[in-house]
Amino acid sequence: MTVTVRSFAKINLGLRIGALRDNGFHELLTVYQTIALHDVIRVSAGRGQGIEIRCADPRVPRDESNTCFRIVERAMRSLGAKGRVEIEIEKRLPIQGGLGGASSNAVATLLALERALKKALSPAEKLRIAGEVGSDLPLFLIGGTVLGVGRGEQVYPLPDLPPMACVVLTPEVGVSTPRAFASWDRLCGAGAPASEPVSTRTQPKLTAPGASDRINMFGRGLTAWLSEAFSGQSYSGAPGGRGRAENPLLWLVRAGIENDFESVVFPEYPELREGKRALLRAGAKYASLSGSGSALYGLFASKDAAAKASARLRKQGWAAQATVTLTRRRYWRRITTA
Ligand code: C5P
Repeated sequence: MTVTVRSFAKINLGLRIGALRDNGFHELLTVYQTIALHDVIRVSAGRGQGIEIRCADPRVPRDESNTCFRIVERAMRSLGAKGRVEIEIEKRLPIQGGLGGASSNAVATLLALERALKKALSPAEKLRIAGEVGSDLPLFLIGGTVLGVGRGEQVYPLPDLPPMACVVLTPEVGVSTPRAFASWDRLCGAGAPASEPVSTRTQPKLTAPGASDRINMFGRGLTAWLSEAFSGQSYSGAPGGRGRAENPLLWLVRAGIENDFESVVFPEYPELREGKRALLRAGAKYASLSGSGSALYGLFASKDAAAKASARLRKQGWAAQATVTLTRRRYWRRITTA
C-alpha cells in the first residue's frame, strides 16, 4: 500500500538566536507558522529490507544524510518493524530554503509510514525521534502557530493566528544554516559557550547576556500577546494602536518580532535584502527572511493583495508564490490527500 501525504512548509514569525551551548547548538526563541506551500511524499512498506528514496531533483540526497531516511530508520527500530520502505519525494519547496522542507518531508514520511504499516508510535516517542533528526522537525507534529524554544525542537502549540495571505519569494541561492549560525557567532561574539566563564574567553564576547536580553524581550512581547489573546482584549495595545480590528498576526509583528539571521545573511546575499524591500514595496504589511533563508515572505492584508503583489514581483524577475498560512486544524485536515 502506498500512502500519500502533503508535506507543508513553515515560516518563522520572528527568530531570536541566544547563546551557543556546550552541545554545539544555539538557544532559540521563535514562532513557527505552517503555510500551504508543500511537497508531496509517498511511502510504501513491503517485504524485504532497506530504505529507498526516489526524487526527480538530483540535489536531494538518497542516502542516510536524508532526513526521511534517518527518521524511517529510527521509527522502524522503535516500532520493532521489519521490511523495505520506499519513499518518493515530489519536490516543490526550495532546498536549503528556510521553509523547513527537509524537516517537513521527514515528519510527513513518519506519518505516512505509520499508516502504511498500520502501526503507531506514541506522540511523545514521535516528538523524541523528530527532535533527534533535526531541530526543525517537531513543529510539524503540531502545525499551525507554534512556539519553538530550546534549540527550536521544544515546541508548544500557540493559539492559532487567523489565516493570513502571504507571498513567498524563493531566490535560487541556498543558505547553509550551520554557516549562518557561525556567522552570527562571529558578528556578535557569542561564540563562547554560555557555561564558559567570561574571563577564559579570548575576545570581548558580550553577547551571552545580550543574547538573553533579546530573547527575553521577544519573550515578553509574546507573553503580552498571549495574555491579550486569552483575556479577550482585541490587541488594542499594539504599538501605533490600530484599534479593535487589529489582526493578531500583525499585532504580533508589531510587538517587535525580528529574525536575527537577517543581520548575517543579508550582508552576504544582498539580493535577499532586495527581496525583502521588493515585498514591502509590493504592499506587504510585514516582510522577513524565513529561518536562515534564502526564502523571504511578506504578509498581506488580503488574498487579492497577495495575488497582485505576487504577479508584480514575478514581472520584476522574482520567483514569487502567493499562499496562505495554515491553522492547526487546516494543517491536519489537508495533510492527507484524497
Ligand atoms: O538541528 P539541525 O539539524 O537543523 O541543525 C543543523 C545545524 O545547525 C547544527 O548542527 C548546528 O550547527 C546548527 N544549529 C544551531 N543551533 C540551533 C539549531 C541548529 O547552532 N538551535
